[in-house]
Parts: sequence; structure tokens; C-alpha cells
Amino acid sequence: MMALLDIRHLTTQIPTPRGTLTVVDDVSFTVDAGECFGLVGESGSGKSMTIKSILGLIPPPGRVTGGAVLHDGQDLTLLSPRAMNAIRGRGIATIVQDASSALNPVLRIGKQIAESMLEHGIVRTRAEARARVIDLMAKVGIPAPETRIDDYPHQFSGGMCQRVVIAAALSCNPELILADEPTTALDVTIQDQILKLLLALQHDLGLGLVLVTHDLGVVAQTCQRVAVMYAGQIVEMVGTADLFRQPRHPYTMGLLNCVPRLDGPADKRLTPIPGAPPDLAHPPSGCRFHPRCPLAADACRSGKPTLTEVSPGHLSRCIRQDALTADLWETAVA
Ligand SMILES: Nc1ncnc2c1ncn2[C@@H]1O[C@H](COP(=O)(O)OP(=O)(O)OP(=O)(O)O)[C@@H](O)[C@H]1O
Ligand SMILES: [Mg+2]
Repeated sequence: MMALLDIRHLTTQIPTPRGTLTVVDDVSFTVDAGECFGLVGESGSGKSMTIKSILGLIPPPGRVTGGAVLHDGQDLTLLSPRAMNAIRGRGIATIVQDASSALNPVLRIGKQIAESMLEHGIVRTRAEARARVIDLMAKVGIPAPETRIDDYPHQFSGGMCQRVVIAAALSCNPELILADEPTTALDVTIQDQILKLLLALQHDLGLGLVLVTHDLGVVAQTCQRVAVMYAGQIVEMVGTADLFRQPRHPYTMGLLNCVPRLDGPADKRLTPIPGAPPDLAHPPSGCRFHPRCPLAADACRSGKPTLTEVSPGHLSRCIRQDALTADLWETAVA
């Protein structure tokens, strides 16, 4: 079966006065229909740039310099801006972190949800659009949609605004949704509601979902497969259960160490990974993680590790597989 989204060796660069930054570096992954795929990593690891590259939304002078984004039999990186605009919204919808900035403050909610439906010819008349908007608003759990459809964004809470954004994303019957930190700006209890809504819709409609998050707890709850990014590269990719059961990259092990565990001993200290991600204008030689890695050896400083299958279906960009131990970070920072 052909994947809904098949990303191959995607590479995106941004020229800056300090040098050219490779913000997405040879990224490959696939997403199937009905699947939720997670993209995790620290701030600045290239998650949003990956999403923007897929959508053709890299702000110039940055641009996709290599690789392919295959969707529906075409390579999206080769499409004209106009053709790409038709794909956005209709085939592939997005949900961004900050719902309030995604909505136009001077336009009524109903109009905003209807906009792309009319643009993409999903509905023909305003009356048809209105009926469908009310339907969508009900579907995403907005009470009294018949009256609220004429309200403005400021009349909605943050959580309700994000529901509006989700309704707009669903309006053109997309096959795939790219959600970049869709709940980060919300209160914790609301986060949970929005995430559950998104997953229920994804499941019911059989959509592919790419979920960008820096929260491994969210990944554990929602994603079937996950890619861990570091400094623009995927460093580990595997089914979610296996990532938590047996991580195969020191960076992932470090991230997992930072996640509080309900079943862990009460006095166990959480140990953040010491150090900071590299400056992309001057990335370290060899493995990009080696300056922060407790296992770094000479070979890690000289040779560039490739993403390799270390066990069936489990990819890791680390050559020190033999040295990985469960207490790696406890020993390292003790
Ligand atoms: N316009 C720009 N010019 C130069 N560098 C940029 C620009 N936009 C982003 N970057 C750099 O690209 C890298 C990847 O950024 P990106 O926004 O994809 O990170 P992220 O993983 O989404 O982080 P966060 O969790 O904070 O959202 C970062 O190092 C960032 O500094
Ligand atoms: Mg981001």
C-alpha cells in the first residue's frame, strides 16, 4: 500500500550572515492513513521546519534544497505555489500552536471556517457553507453552533478557539493533518480535551496525523510511531511502545530521563540532559550529539553516523549500540 505521505531525504537550508543553516537534514519518514506519527525533540531541533518544508511554507531565502515529499502520486516540492495552495487545506490541513493567531480577529467564526471550503469548491453556495459549518462546529464539540457561528474569535476561550481551528482544518475533508504543537498554548486540562478530540476525529475519519510535540507523555498517549529529532536530523525512529521499552539512542534515553514517571520511585531525581543543542551555523564534527553524549568516543567525533536499522523496524543514528545501558544517564550525571 502506498503511504499517504512519503518523505525522502528532505533537506532544507536557510542562508544567514553567519553561514548556511541546514535546519532539516536528510529527513525521511512515512505516514499511513489512519496513523498518528509523532515528531519529538527539544526546542530548535527542526520540527516546525520539517512541517513547513512539507507544506512549501519555508520563508525565503530559506528553501527546500533536496529530497522529495510524495503525496498522492506527486512530489510536492516540485509543485508551483499555486498548485501547492490547492493541496494545502484540501489534501493536507494544518493546525498550529497558537489558535488565536491562526484566526482573523475581525472575521466571524463561521466565515473563517467557510472560507477555504468556498475557495476549494467544497460547497457552492453560502447557505450550503453555513449548514456545513454548523455541522463541523457540532462535530468538534462547540455548544450552540447555530448561534455561535456568528461570534468573533475574542468571544471564544483558548480551547474553543482551537476547536474552531480544528473545524476549519477538517472543512475540506483532508486526508492528512499536520499538527504543530496543537495544545501547547492551552491549560493542561484543556490540552487533554483537545488532544482527545483530535484523536477521536482522526480515528473516526481515518486520517493520517503528524503530531509535533516536545512532550513524550503526549506521544505515549497518542502516536503509533515516532521520530526523535536532534539538530535537524532524525536520530531515532520506531514504534512508540518500543521507544519507551528500549530506546536505542543516548539522546532519546536522555529525553526519557527527563519525563516524570508515575510508576517510578518517588525520590528518583529527574536529570535534564546537560548542555545545549549545537549552533547550526557551526555544527559539531561527526555525530551532532557527541558534545553532550556520555558515550562519545573518538569514532563519534570523526565519522558521521547514519540512521541504521539496529533491530527490525528500529532505526538509530548511533554507532555505540553495544555500550547503551539503561542507567546511562544516571551514571553519567552522578
Ligand atoms: N528564519 C530563520 N532564520 C534562521 N534560522 C531559523 C529561522 N527559523 C528557524 N530557524 C532555526 O531553525 C532551527 C529549527 O527551528 P524549528 O522552528 O523547526 O524548531 P522546533 O523543533 O520547531 O522548535 P520548537 O520546539 O521551539 O518549536 C532552529 O535552530 C532555529 O533557530
Ligand atoms: Mg516548532
